[in-house]
Amino acid sequence: MPVSSRQAAYLDALGVTRYARRAAPSAASTAREVPASQAPAVVAVPRPVAPVQDVTETPATDPAAAWPALHAQIAACTACGLSRTRTHTVPGVGDRQADWMVIGEAPGAEEDARGEPFVGPAGKLLDAMLHAVGRSRRRGVYITNIVKCRPPNNRDPAPQEAQACAGFLQRQIALVEPKLILAVGKVAAHNLLGRDDPVGRLRGQVWQWQGRVPVVVTYHPAYLLRSPLEKRKVWDDLCLAQDVLERSAG
Ligand code: URA
Ligand code: SF4
Repeated sequence: MPVSSRQAAYLDALGVTRYARRAAPSAASTAREVPASQAPAVVAVPRPVAPVQDVTETPATDPAAAWPALHAQIAACTACGLSRTRTHTVPGVGDRQADWMVIGEAPGAEEDARGEPFVGPAGKLLDAMLHAVGRSRRRGVYITNIVKCRPPNNRDPAPQEAQACAGFLQRQIALVEPKLILAVGKVAAHNLLGRDDPVGRLRGQVWQWQGRVPVVVTYHPAYLLRSPLEKRKVWDDLCLAQDVLERSAG
């Protein structure tokens, strides 16, 4: 799809009307989107996620073997109490060579039933958001969550559950080597950044995960389903994410 159509597709797909249209996040337009003088601050993160889970390192030179090994480790994991109530582990899905990694919170009921992240209503909205910037779970993005097992009644994962699972996420980031992480929602943002500010204050800036991977924060699609007016802001966040990539490439 031509870049110029993407914002329109985003707005249509997400049901947003009467939006003052901004340029789409393309190589040509994003330089204008965020002039250097207004470029968001890059903020050092004081408290990176520490690995707790003992994730066996398979040589990075053989990712073909590393992924099945990682998925087998996740499937067998009993490091936190979520293992007792899950149906399936939900490791992640998508393009393993993607330059974007989307990190959500935790599997919900449909994800637990199918073993794939973001397949429920929030997932459909996420797909529409990604489509608007020319990405899909087959190309250009890898999608995972802070924890790989569903918390009962869709409660937020507890800090110790997130901590227990952090080694798997670390391994996924090491294998994909994304150039950008899009943290969707407060649980992802808080765990990745080690901060507890509201999403409204964390978005609009470029953070760093462990001092090496840029992180852009946006609203969780489940929240957008409840607060549709915030969808407009997500377009700006997607533009910022795309702009970070353009700048890292240039
Ligand atoms: N919400 C999430 O954060 N992750 C999923 O996989 C599904 C819904
Ligand atoms: Fe293991 Fe993570 Fe599942 Fe907890 S949530 S049992 S740490 S895979």
